[in-house]
Amino acid sequence: MNVLQEIIPNVKNMKQLQYLVLARRASQIKEELRQRVRKPFKEVIDVSWGDPHKAGVKPLSFVQQVLAACLYPQLVNSDRLPVDVRQRAQSLLKGCDGGSVGSYTATRGISEIVHRVSEFITRRDGGAPSYPENIFISPGSQWALGNILNILVNSEASHRTGVLTPVPCYSISLMSIRGLGAVTVPYNLNEEQGWELQVEELHRALESAKGVCNPVALYVINPGNPTGYVQSRKSIQEVIQFVSEKRLFLLADEVYQDCVHGEHSEFVSYKRVLAEMGPPLSDTVELASFHSASKGFMGECGLRGGYVELVNLDLAVMKYIYKLFSTDACAPVLGQFALDLMMKPPQPGDPSYPLYSVETQHIRTTLVHNVKRVLEVVNNLPGFCCQPVKGVFAFPRLHLPPKAIQKAKEIGMQPDAFYCMRLLAEAGVIVSPGCDYGQKQGTHHIRFYIMTSEDTMEEVLRRLSSFHTQFMKDFS
Ligand SMILES: Cc1ncc(COP(=O)(O)O)c(C=O)c1O
Repeated sequence: MNVLQEIIPNVKNMKQLQYLVLARRASQIKEELRQRVRKPFKEVIDVSWGDPHKAGVKPLSFVQQVLAACLYPQLVNSDRLPVDVRQRAQSLLKGCDGGSVGSYTATRGISEIVHRVSEFITRRDGGAPSYPENIFISPGSQWALGNILNILVNSEASHRTGVLTPVPCYSISLMSIRGLGAVTVPYNLNEEQGWELQVEELHRALESAKGVCNPVALYVINPGNPTGYVQSRKSIQEVIQFVSEKRLFLLADEVYQDCVHGEHSEFVSYKRVLAEMGPPLSDTVELASFHSASKGFMGECGLRGGYVELVNLDLAVMKYIYKLFSTDACAPVLGQFALDLMMKPPQPGDPSYPLYSVETQHIRTTLVHNVKRVLEVVNNLPGFCCQPVKGVFAFPRLHLPPKAIQKAKEIGMQPDAFYCMRLLAEAGVIVSPGCDYGQKQGTHHIRFYIMTSEDTMEEVLRRLSSFHTQFMKDFS
């Protein structure tokens, strides 16, 4: 028997993403463009990822300067860089063995940076204490989620482990859960109520798992991906109450916490609300909260720096988690540095502050502008309906004509994946199909990233509008 067959069942559990089919087609189209094949567009625009730099957002100068000096320490003595940049690089390098970014670090991350993360959390959460020994820095937050799932999923139990997951849900998290052999137990977010998480739905979902699997955890994404929904304090309190009653571990994916905008929306962390609720909840609910340097205004996805903070875990379990993280040696040092810069950006009075402030403000105003434009344009296209957007993704519902649905069926595609494929081939825009995130049966959506440059977003909307109008005509 082939050795590899041993792992096939869990890997099979991981559904093939339609996005991957689109990505393959996009590579062919790019190649055709290179070979000067005539198309109605000159380049492909990819807004299918939550990746600001890919979407045309300029990286922050402060981050690039500090990282440059860390990689090439001679720059620490160069007066071409602002003095606070040089000081920061020097202090970051001090935390590295041999003063070099090329050396391994401690398993949970460079000690000074772990402390910086815990100070950030305490500040963010209005003084609720955070302890460095509860924090693990990882190569991106997804990696940390994988490690925590690893301890939650019991692959030897007679009943498979279940994790309650939102519908729709960030597809890679679904893959991580299923890839470990666990079952995802879907709970629907209410689209008509702006993708609200309703606690009655959590009760229904948990009930539906009876006899199917053994649910041990609830996974929430706040602010939401793909929905862009932001939970209120009250909603978070209800979720905490629910997990406490049902004895579930709480996995809070909070990587989009810096990108909340719009009236009456404010990010409040699960950790903060839990602390505010006081004992016995604050001493008993087990929580893992994830954050990342990939998101926010910094958007350093490729550097791979994230962290998890663990709350109320048993000491014996913490030791086991430490062991698990130690098998990865450590997170990339530049990713750890990016996290450090995100935790403590330039402050008023620092030489780098004016430029940092201008650059981040520009990204913020562009995001607000893009949201307004997306809602104006998309909600005026027949067949589209987009709920208010409070984060960095738009996830409009697409009411496809029956003929388009029939055509998709004939060629063995999901209807919204078919729409996305045509959008790519005819307009050169890559967005991702709702079917990849799970969605209520019979509904279709597309997801696209809106933290782009203004020009990119205008071009996306222009191409989407003219493609959509023609598509609806063709299939009416
Ligand atoms: C909800 C959510 N969680 C986690 C991640 C992964 O982030 P990281 O790059 O830190 O692994 C993403 C990336 O898009 C995401 O959307």
